Amino acid sequence: MLDTRKVRGGNGLAPIDAEIDTILDDVFNITKEATESFFNAYNANPDKRVLASWLETRTWREIDYVFLLNEQIRRYGLRFQRNHITLLAKQSFQEAEHYEELGKAVLSLGGIVPITVPKAAVSWSNWLWECMDRHYLAAIAAWYVSETSASGSFEPTFKGAEVQGHMDVVRIYKQIEIDEKFHTGLGRQVLSTYAETDEDRDEILRAMKGMRDIAWKSFTPEVVAATMRAA
Ligand SMILES: [Fe+2]
Ligand SMILES: [Fe+2]
Repeated sequence: MLDTRKVRGGNGLAPIDAEIDTILDDVFNITKEATESFFNAYNANPDKRVLASWLETRTWREIDYVFLLNEQIRRYGLRFQRNHITLLAKQSFQEAEHYEELGKAVLSLGGIVPITVPKAAVSWSNWLWECMDRHYLAAIAAWYVSETSASGSFEPTFKGAEVQGHMDVVRIYKQIEIDEKFHTGLGRQVLSTYAETDEDRDEILRAMKGMRDIAWKSFTPEVVAATMRAA
C-alpha cells in the first residue's frame, strides 16, 4: 500500500502512531477486498449503468472534499503555517479536477453526475462535517482515513476496469492515485505538526475511528452487491 506514514511534520501523533496505523491498515484492506468483489461481479455481468452508479458516489466525494477543504481553510487556516494553507488549497484544486474528470466518465457510462449527496454517501459526508464542527484537526483526521481507504481501491479498479476496456476510468484513477499520495501525506503532516495535547489526539482518534466504522459498513462485499442490484 501507499506508505504515507513516513511523511511526518512533527511528533504530535507519536503516542498514537501504532493505533493510527492499525486503523489505516483496516480501512485499506476492507476497501481493497470490496473493490475486488465489485469488479469480479461486474465482469461476470458487465452493465455500464452498474459501473456508473458505483462511480457516482465516488464522484460526489470529490466535490464534498472541495467544500470541506475550502471550509477548513476559511475557518481554521490562519492557525496554520502559510505553506499549509497553500498545500490544502492545492489539494482542493485537485479534488475539483477529480470531480470534473470522474464526472466525464460517469456521463460516458450513461450515469448522472451528482449535485446533491447520494444516499450511499450521506453517513460519510455527515461524519466529515460533524468533525469539522468539533475540532480544527478532526475533519482532516477523518478524510485522512477516508482517502487511505480509497487508496485500497486503486489496484483492483485498474485491473477490473481494464477487463471491459474502460480505459478512461483507468486513466483517471491513475492520476487520482498520484494525487492521493500527496493528499494522504499532507494529512499526516498537518496532523503531526499541529496535534499538541491529549485532547487533540483524542479528537483525532475519535474522528478516525468514526470514519473507519463508516468505511467498514459502506464497503463490505454485501453492500457492494446491494449497490449493484439497485442500479
Ligand atoms: Fe480525489
Ligand atoms: Fe484526495
